[in-house]
Amino acid sequence: MISFAPELGFFRESWIPGAPPRSVLTRWRCETALRVIDGGWGAVRWMVTGAGGALGTDLVDRLTASGAPPGDSVVALTRADTDVTDPAAVRDAVHAWAAAPADGADDTAVLLNAAAFTAVDLAETDPAAAADAWAANAEAPGLLAAACAEVGATMVHVSTDYVLGPLPDGARRPLEPDDPTGPDGVYARSKLAGEERVRAALPGAHHIVRTAWVYGATGANFVRTMARLARERDTLDVVDDQHGSPTWSADLADGLLALARSSAPAGTRHAAGGGETTWCGLARAVFAELGADPDRVRPCDTASFPRPAPRPAWSVLSDASWRAAGLTPLPPWRDALHAAVTRHPDLLLG
Ligand SMILES: NC(=O)c1ccc[n+]([C@@H]2O[C@H](COP(=O)([O-])OP(=O)(O)OC[C@H]3O[C@@H](n4cnc5c(N)ncnc54)[C@H](OP(=O)(O)O)[C@@H]3O)[C@@H](O)[C@H]2O)c1
Repeated sequence: MISFAPELGFFRESWIPGAPPRSVLTRWRCETALRVIDGGWGAVRWMVTGAGGALGTDLVDRLTASGAPPGDSVVALTRADTDVTDPAAVRDAVHAWAAAPADGADDTAVLLNAAAFTAVDLAETDPAAAADAWAANAEAPGLLAAACAEVGATMVHVSTDYVLGPLPDGARRPLEPDDPTGPDGVYARSKLAGEERVRAALPGAHHIVRTAWVYGATGANFVRTMARLARERDTLDVVDDQHGSPTWSADLADGLLALARSSAPAGTRHAAGGGETTWCGLARAVFAELGADPDRVRPCDTASFPRPAPRPAWSVLSDASWRAAGLTPLPPWRDALHAAVTRHPDLLLG
């Protein structure tokens, strides 16, 4: 159910992908209960930045679905609405959001930051892109966090396995939030700097969530690419010496909302699809979902596919920090892939 609040001029400029035209979209009210851990709060006013991206689209979908809690409201900002690297635009957007009339005395404000520069290889090869990556991934989270501090909002900020370094002595076990950082490359360094700025600006009111290998229904991703290549090629060589946890963005969106509604203290946590595989393993799973022979995907090593930005060889994220916060870990990656392509069959069209 959507309700229009014409008095809120600011919200007129917000846009929710797939929703009514921006000229009529303002504020959404949702009627039934979202499956979340309830921190005992009243209505929540949410802001989603990066609302046009893979994760942002799912966050907005969840927050505007029929199962969202009554009284909650959402402002969804794409880059066209607010450039998160523009200090004045960020401050104006956050203050307008926070100043809008509340539904109740205990109205709580949570900003979900899904905006990021994610063209990892381009950031490595193009100085202008590197500057954009730094602005969006390092500086913008600091601007958003500072604005949240001014208005008393909590911020959920999404980060990446790329900020972590190899474990000592080449050990391989699921990575914890307090494992050593060691970002390699422009994107990785910019994301780590973003984490640091969020912690500094909002010491008691941030949730930093590192995730990995995200694919969603929106935009280009590895799953779509493998589905396309399954049609175009007889065989395919895919890297089999990088390990990680594929993450369906809709599952991540559910997890972030559960975290935001929980009573978990501020901190840094990991959330990714359960279990682990390699890119080759994920490609084979996509072939299997297509009904194609997974053995058409042949394993190769990273050296066979040099890329401008270095990739971690071991990106498997532990769910211990998630469980310790009382949260349900994201579903196993293989189940999630099946659920994703069942719900979004177009993912398999490439
Ligand atoms: N994808 C992965 O595998 C992965 C893995 C680990 C962590 N993450 C993290 O997960 C989060 C969500 O990623 P995603 O996969 O959803 O990425 P995505 O699909 O690329 O979405 C990012 C969104 O941010 C927007 N954006 C970029 N610069 C902006 C700016 N200056 N102002 C406003 N909006 C801006 C982009 O808009 P444009 O489209 O106009 O550029 C895009 O809509 C990010 O923090 C990312 O670092 C992703």
